[in-house]
Amino acid sequence: MARIAVAVSLILVAAVASDAAPPAPEPYASAATCATCHQTIHQYWSESEHSRSAVKPAYAYALAAAVAGASDPQAVRRGCVWCHAPTALVTGDYDLRRPVTREGVSCDFCHTVADVDLARSGHPFDLDPGDVKRGPLEYAQSPFHRTAYSPLHKTSPLLCAACHEHTNANGVAVLSTYSEWSAGPYPPRGQTCQECHMPLVPGETVQGQTVESTQRRINLHRLVGGSNPSRVRAGVLLRMDSLTVSAASADVQVAVVNAAVGHAVPGGLSSKSLVLAVGVETAAGQLLHRRERVYRRELKDAEGRTLVTVPDMFLRAAAVGADTRIRQKETRSERFTVPLPADWKAIVARLEYRDESDPRAGAKTTLVTEERRERGATGPSGPR
Ligand code: HEC
Ligand code: HEC
Ligand code: HEC
Ligand code: HEC
Ligand code: HEC
Repeated sequence: MARIAVAVSLILVAAVASDAAPPAPEPYASAATCATCHQTIHQYWSESEHSRSAVKPAYAYALAAAVAGASDPQAVRRGCVWCHAPTALVTGDYDLRRPVTREGVSCDFCHTVADVDLARSGHPFDLDPGDVKRGPLEYAQSPFHRTAYSPLHKTSPLLCAACHEHTNANGVAVLSTYSEWSAGPYPPRGQTCQECHMPLVPGETVQGQTVESTQRRINLHRLVGGSNPSRVRAGVLLRMDSLTVSAASADVQVAVVNAAVGHAVPGGLSSKSLVLAVGVETAAGQLLHRRERVYRRELKDAEGRTLVTVPDMFLRAAAVGADTRIRQKETRSERFTVPLPADWKAIVARLEYRDESDPRAGAKTTLVTEERRERGATGPSGPR
């Protein structure tokens, strides 16, 4: 209790400048408060999906769709908000009235998690908001708040699994990133989520304060995944293994390798897919005879229909359908036969990332990488 009182008074002091009625006591401090000292970390976090998770238009739209027509709308809302705006677990602010709720997965939430128990579905956290900030530094010296070394933050995937692994009321793992990771080659090597998604980069832990940063490196808080094509490119290889050209057609063998993704690729929700497309480019620059292989995990409802919207995936998934995603270190070899027009110029293989999380935007497709063989050329060519 004493610890919470210290944190509360700190925030009231920060709010004193305004003439308005004093705000209700906040168990969680705003990211803006942390930013006064942890500027660089705050900058990276503000570029992350975590900082937008409570207010993204795609999420707001999906939340409204999930709640509409539900027999217990408030229960459905709570079932979404605890992950996307987790401070509500303590404040009860499931309607997002408080500014800190709208900060989504915010600094003070993560750094006051004391423990995680995945068996407690819907509330896997032991939360201890207040003056003690838990983190990876064993010898942190902060005169401004207390600190505690936390193996959960430094090395454990459980902090992330609390939100990135989720089994719905029908017993279907709608999000299975953690269990996929657990079944692969990375746990024995000690490569947890943080190692890939929060690598050390040059930077100061604190700036502009009377105390000095004890570190010259910080953990990158931008946490990018599939939303950034360069991150996908770093994890997946595309290779054209063979090409046999005859008068009328080409026979192409292409491999897609999950070289460095710590779980199945594409990871995350079933609204994401990876698409391998092969076609022939004409002299005029057109891509003809495009053929596709789609890597994704389908979720089905109780009648066996494939679910397409995110709220349906969370609320109505009753079974897992086909799962063609590529596992860690797996190589997927695909063969295509493409007819050749007289003016063909090159055979092209493309890897694309497709996100269908927002039905208003339709399928959002981005190019990850491309491999091509020009007519007449021999041997490998083209950018990777
Ligand atoms: C007035 C300055 C100041 C403010 C405000 C501040 N911190 Fe800190 N914090 C520090 C200093 C100084 C350190 C020690 C840095 C070091 O040792 O390199 C630190 C260290 C930390 C650590 C590392 C703890 C560990 O043992 O690994 C965490 C986590 C942390 N702060 C989180 C926060 C959060 C979350 C907020 C906002 C709620 C916040 N801080 C606000 C000054 C501040
Ligand atoms: C999703 C949870 C999460 C959020 C949100 C988050 N952090 Fe962290 N933070 C971590 C983890 C995990 C580590 C340790 C990573 C490691 O050791 O590999 C860390 C490390 C730190 C450290 C120690 C220095 C370092 O970089 O290792 C500080 C200070 C810190 N965070 C402050 C902040 C502040 C300030 C914010 C908001 C602007 C914030 N964090 C948001 C999880 C989070
Ligand atoms: C309190 C819940 C919560 C915790 C804890 C959490 N996340 Fe997240 N994370 C989310 C949500 C919700 C999103 C989706 C945000 C959006 O797209 O609106 C997300 C998004 C992400 C993304 C971005 C995916 C993309 O499309 O680019 C990555 C990567 C990620 N998290 C990794 C981590 C890692 C690593 C940890 C542990 C250090 C972690 N998360 C801890 C809830 C959480
Ligand atoms: C060996 C490195 C590595 C490890 C370990 C790892 N990841 Fe990833 N992760 C990646 C790469 C590369 C991508 C981009 C490819 C993709 O989108 O699937 C990614 C993508 C993601 C995404 C975005 C999925 C999408 O397509 O939107 C999330 C969320 C995520 N990881 C969470 C986690 C969590 C949680 C853990 C720990 C249980 C973890 N990752 C472990 C490398 C790793
Ligand atoms: C267990 C935590 C958890 C729960 C519960 C949860 N989400 Fe999410 N949500 C996530 C994570 C993690 C991601 C990012 C996964 C990825 O990268 O594919 C996400 C992504 C999304 C996205 C995609 C955002 C984008 O822009 O790509 C939407 C929309 C969404 N969630 C809506 C909902 C709705 C609606 C509910 C309630 C029915 C809900 N979520 C419940 C964790 C959760």
